[in-house]
Amino acid sequence: MTNTSALAISAHAVRKSFGDHVALDGVDLTVTEGTIFALLGPNGAGKTTVVKILSTLLKTDAGTATVNGFDVATHPADVRESISLTGQFAAVDEILTGRENLILMARLRRVKDAGQIADDLLARFQLTDAARRRVATYSGGMRRRLDIAMSLIGNPPVIFLDEPTTGLDPQGRIEVWNSIKELAGQGTTVLLTTQYLDEAEQLADRIAILHQGRIIANGTLAELKQLLPPAKVEYVEKQPTLEDVFLAIVGATGTDSDPAMTAASAPTSKEQR
Ligand SMILES: Nc1ncnc2c1ncn2[C@@H]1O[C@H](COP(=O)(O)OP(=O)(O)O)[C@@H](O)[C@H]1O
Ligand SMILES: [Mg+2]
Repeated sequence: MTNTSALAISAHAVRKSFGDHVALDGVDLTVTEGTIFALLGPNGAGKTTVVKILSTLLKTDAGTATVNGFDVATHPADVRESISLTGQFAAVDEILTGRENLILMARLRRVKDAGQIADDLLARFQLTDAARRRVATYSGGMRRRLDIAMSLIGNPPVIFLDEPTTGLDPQGRIEVWNSIKELAGQGTTVLLTTQYLDEAEQLADRIAILHQGRIIANGTLAELKQLLPPAKVEYVEKQPTLEDVFLAIVGATGTDSDPAMTAASAPTSKEQR
């Protein structure tokens, strides 16, 4: 990997309000080239607003941001050339096959060898077997993977993934995680948003926690863990066995409520506990 530790994304004191509502209250962040950065926060934290500003879909009220070295305010066209954006809802065409979707996108982006690029991406995202099936028959995870594959056409150096796994089942989430890991392995810079700590933990080199329009913590997973007070005792909750459950029922109801229970058997079950 050619990590020059140049900045792929930077934001400084970014503010954005919608009417009276302050969505971003001074956001600072930097993302090094070729790394995965997770913006973690609950619904309404301002994650999509950050992504929209960085992808030039929204203008800031104050502050500055650059993507791939271009200022989003003064060079929006250069920023758009440098990025792809995949939203929470897959933008694939259900009527077309996976391969047709990729070829369509390749033609829209005027990339040469659309068929070859489509086949390479299908292989990279484990969609070769489903390539000639209509997307309507795909699982949620397959659609999202196809969506991510489409976003790679033209090799944008920076990719924004806004809640890439929201709404997916556990298997679909793992598939998409693998696709995102694969992306970063090829040197693409990824900024993803998520509501899930485990997703950030799985994928991200650095994690920023966005809360009410401010970044309240920012660092590697190890750094963030150090912010927590050290755990002194680890309490592991033991799942009861069927026998435990049985004994608890027998012990609780005992001889009183169960006429079939003999006087001799109840004390025995208590002794065994
Ligand atoms: N176009 C808009 N008009 C008014 N309020 C908005 C608009 N977009 C976002 N907001 C508000 O800004 C806040 C942040 O929204 P958003 O960035 O979508 O959060 P997230 O993606 O973290 O769920 C929310 O309170 C949301 O309701
Ligand atoms: Mg959002």
